[in-house]
Amino acid sequence: MGIIISGTKLAATRKETLRQAIVEAKLKYDRVPRLAVILVGNDVGSISYVKGKEKAALEVGINITTYHYDDSITEKELEDKIISLNHDNTVDGILVQLPLPKHIKQDKIIDLISPNKDVDGFHPYNVASLYLKHEGILPCTPKGVIALLDSKNISIEGKRAVVVGRSNIVGMPLAKMLLDRNATVTICHSKTKDLKEITKEADILIACLGKAKFITGNMVKDGVTVIDVGINRDKETNKLCGDVDFDSVYPHAAYITKVPGGVGPMTICCLLENTYIAYLNQFKRN
Ligand code: GUN
Repeated sequence: MGIIISGTKLAATRKETLRQAIVEAKLKYDRVPRLAVILVGNDVGSISYVKGKEKAALEVGINITTYHYDDSITEKELEDKIISLNHDNTVDGILVQLPLPKHIKQDKIIDLISPNKDVDGFHPYNVASLYLKHEGILPCTPKGVIALLDSKNISIEGKRAVVVGRSNIVGMPLAKMLLDRNATVTICHSKTKDLKEITKEADILIACLGKAKFITGNMVKDGVTVIDVGINRDKETNKLCGDVDFDSVYPHAAYITKVPGGVGPMTICCLLENTYIAYLNQFKRN
C-alpha cells in the first residue's frame, strides 16, 4: 500500500517556518508583508478560496486586504485599482481571483499587475522567467506539487513524468519545472490518443485536467507516484474529489495525495511564501 503525502501537514510545517521568518523580518523592516486580493462578483467557489487565503495569511502574520467588487465593476475601474496598488509601496503582493466576469479581459488585467507583485506568477514576465530559467515568481500550485515530491525525497531526475492537463496555471509550468529537474516529461490532454498507454508508463503522474475521478487504477503502473491537483464535486455524493479515483489507484501507488488535504493547502502555502519573497525583494530594490 502506498504512502499518503499530506499537503495539510507539509503546509502547516512550512507556514510555521514562514511565521517565524516574518516575526524576524518585522524587527528589521518595521512592517509585515501585505497582500492585496481582488475579488469580483459572488461566485461561491471564489469567495470560499479567498476566505481560505485570508485565514492562512493571518496565521503567518501577513496583512491581507480583500477588495470585493460587484459584478458591475468596469474594466477601467479595475485597471485603475491595479495601477494604484502597483504604486502603493505598502503592498507587496497583488492577487486577482480568477475567473473574472466575461466583460473584463482577464489577460489585460493580469498583464497590468507589476511583475514584482504578481504573487500568482501569472504575469507574462514571470511565465517567461520560468521558461528562460531567469529569477521570477513561480506559480503557486506547480511550486506546491514540487514541494510535495521533495518532502518525501521522491527523486525526479531521470523519471518518466506524465502531466495530464495543459493549463497555463498548472500543467504547462509544472511540466517545465519537472523538465528542469531532469524528468522525461509527457504532457497529455483531451485529444491525446491511447492515454492509458502513456499514463501506465508514468513513474510520476500528475492529474490536473479538471475531471472528477478521471484517472483510474487500470491507468497506472505499480509503484507510481500520483499527485492529484483536481478539485471537483462528485456528482453522486456531492463531496469534494480530485481528478484521481483514489480508491482504485491507491493500491498501485508508492506515494499518492488525497483531495482534500493534498495539493490545495500547498497552493495557499506557496502563495504566502511568494508574498514573503516579494516583500523581501521590495526592500532589496529600495
Ligand atoms: N482561481 C482558481 N485558482 C486560482 C489561483 O491559483 N489564483 C487565482 N488568482 N485565481 C484562481
